[in-house]
Amino acid sequence: ESGMFTYDPGFTSTASCQSAITYIDGDEGILLHRGYPIDQLAEQSSFMEVAYLLLHGDLPKKNELEEFNYIISRHTMLHEQLATFYRGFRRDAHPMAIMCGVVGALSAFYHDSTDITDPQQRLIASHRLIAKMPTIAAMAYKYSIGQPFLYPDNSLSYTGNFLRMTFGVPAEPYEVNPIVEKAMDRIFILHADHEQNASTSTVRLAGSSGANPFACIAAGIACLWGPAHGGANEAALNMLREIGDVKRIKEYVARAKDKNDPFRLMGFGHRVYKNYDPRAKVMQQTAEEVLKELKLSDPVLDVARELEQIALSDEYFIEKKLYPNVDFYSGIILNAIGFPTEMFTALFALARTVGWVAQWNEMISDPEQKIGRPRQLYVGATQRDYVPAGKR
Ligand code: SDX
Repeated sequence: ESGMFTYDPGFTSTASCQSAITYIDGDEGILLHRGYPIDQLAEQSSFMEVAYLLLHGDLPKKNELEEFNYIISRHTMLHEQLATFYRGFRRDAHPMAIMCGVVGALSAFYHDSTDITDPQQRLIASHRLIAKMPTIAAMAYKYSIGQPFLYPDNSLSYTGNFLRMTFGVPAEPYEVNPIVEKAMDRIFILHADHEQNASTSTVRLAGSSGANPFACIAAGIACLWGPAHGGANEAALNMLREIGDVKRIKEYVARAKDKNDPFRLMGFGHRVYKNYDPRAKVMQQTAEEVLKELKLSDPVLDVARELEQIALSDEYFIEKKLYPNVDFYSGIILNAIGFPTEMFTALFALARTVGWVAQWNEMISDPEQKIGRPRQLYVGATQRDYVPAGKR
């Protein structure tokens, strides 16, 4: 029990862990990071400030944020030999395949931050992972389009640096568009952490065995890739494009309701939210703002708005409490900024790294922490004796 939040003993006895980082009330559609509501953070904070908040528990003072930004900027470059890893992939490799491989390999290059018993090494590994994810993701994109890698430019903000490494080229100067930078930073904030989702639980479980932090984050990236989880943003935009016209929405809603049809509305529904995902609201507002400010129109946004209206007034979705989630509108913004759909989940992984790292630190620094060991309900054969092959 902690004042405002009291759990029934039944809940805590089945909870996978105790955490002070993120609180979700799925019925009320509430999401708090260290007590701060997600919409206030998305509107007023920055991704680096939220990263500090998740890691250290409080919003930083001005000098603390400046020092944090400086420390992160010291780790944005990737060991030069890691660049050769990219050349081992086919050009059409999915960026998430590259991220799994390259992040997992980091432990082979940064031996001075793999001893999890040393708090200083844990902190350096945490800073390295947060700092290098934009560089790794941008390099995956550049490699896929056959353009040269750009080194980080630490005179830019964390997000501005990422945009330049992604969309800049050595032959031209690159101006960070402040509208795009603000939208990208807000998208990172909205994806930063989300309590014990599948990929965060994967990171915690891997960490509980004492695996090094780079390997744990690589495990989280692998889990996030699935279309039921982080892969939904790519699947949602592909679905909206496939629907293509508001006249075809009813056909897809009918398919989503048909028990015999495996099709589900991507970007809809959630394990925990049985109300509107608070992140989806901010994402929809941001999609409208970005398209307006960039003077772009996207017929897919009209399809998304109409689909949301139709679904939310349909008794199937009302009864099952299915609402748009964080992935429903994000793809529209990412597409407007210029990312291909294959990069969408890699961007989710980039942002969620701050949550994974914060949750890993919380778990690994708990002296009571034991190796995770999920239990099962055994429904197999009762004990029986071996039968030689000739007698089966
Ligand atoms: C993320 O955990 C997290 O916090 C994850 C995440 C994070 O920040 O880390 O929030 C990010 O992963 C968001 C979710 C992204 N995934 C998608 O948008 C994929 C589409 N959504 C579905 O696959 C589904 O909603 C899940 C996987 C998200 C949840 O699936 P569940 O647990 O089966 O949902 P449920 O138990 O609430 O389902 C209730 C019913 C079921 O029908 P019945 O078996 O009761 O008849 O609703 C149905 C489901 O089949 N249903 C859907 C549906 N989602 C659930 N029917 C049609 N379309 C959908 N999208």
